Amino acid sequence: MSKNKIILDCDPGHDDAVAILLTLASPNEIDCLGITISAGNVSLDLTTKNALKILSLVNNQITPVHKGCPRPLISKLVTAEHVHGESGLDTGSGNALPEPQNLPEEEHAVNYILNTLKEHPKNEITLVATGPLTNLGAALALDPETFNRVKRIVLMGGAGFEPGNITPAAEFNIFVDPHAAQSIFESGIEIYMFGLDVTHQMIITPSRLKMIEKSSKLIGPTVSAFLSFFNSYDTKIYGWEGAPLHDPCTIAWLIQPDIFEIKKMSVEIETNNGPAYGRTIADWFNVTNKNKNINVATNGHSDKFFDLIVKRFQHFD
Ligand code: BDR
Ligand code: CA
Repeated sequence: MSKNKIILDCDPGHDDAVAILLTLASPNEIDCLGITISAGNVSLDLTTKNALKILSLVNNQITPVHKGCPRPLISKLVTAEHVHGESGLDTGSGNALPEPQNLPEEEHAVNYILNTLKEHPKNEITLVATGPLTNLGAALALDPETFNRVKRIVLMGGAGFEPGNITPAAEFNIFVDPHAAQSIFESGIEIYMFGLDVTHQMIITPSRLKMIEKSSKLIGPTVSAFLSFFNSYDTKIYGWEGAPLHDPCTIAWLIQPDIFEIKKMSVEIETNNGPAYGRTIADWFNVTNKNKNINVATNGHSDKFFDLIVKRFQHFD
């Protein structure tokens, strides 16, 4: 199997942080060229700082971090401190994260994405997106020809069949920038969507949290401390045993695709104001006969998913 060369666009965020760690723990399958940052869970400055803190946690001095757009293309920024805390990566009373050792790069994320696509053969780079799609939408608008050199986009976002988590209809990442999402979904690029349909199956139960804590001396206690904080909001709201670990589904699929079932269908984004704003409308039965533009993850094996994370975290010791 050839290695996946990726750029990871994210807005850390507790689950984004786990996606970064799973990426760095899987060098045989994933070559992460760089991390680009979007505003989303909290402001761009804080999401950037959080990505740098995660790199410090694993003493990573080499993965470049590029700041992207500070706000969505058209709408006002909506953030999620109610889920991720004031810093965007609160740890509650547990092990604190180290301060950043590095600074972000000078080059803007959108230029970095386009320049990296130019420097590599067409259809080589996978863009993984675990935040609002603003940077990707801006790159597509700035230089569509170069953007189309991308191999595929693998994203966490949307809810084909599940209710929403920021409104009854919409999932957070798509809700924050539905216009960027619409342009990406209509781009004709191969897209894999890991939405709430499948991420709501990946619950951080107390026993899985324990397994994560014990997985690695270097990162286990810190990751389990910040995931305990992450669990607190969702357990209250949903009444579940823990929070869904959304964002690492994208990376897990690249490493071990058999964890997920995928079905290709038409997915459209609602951008009109109203109660369905930001909804991903997925046509399971092909009743519209529209172009099947999105590979939607419809089911996932949660034990395999958490086993993969726990095994890979051992890589850090
Ligand atoms: C998504 O929203 C964010 O809060 C999470 O990081 C994840 O990307 C889930 O709806
Ligand atoms: Ca995210």
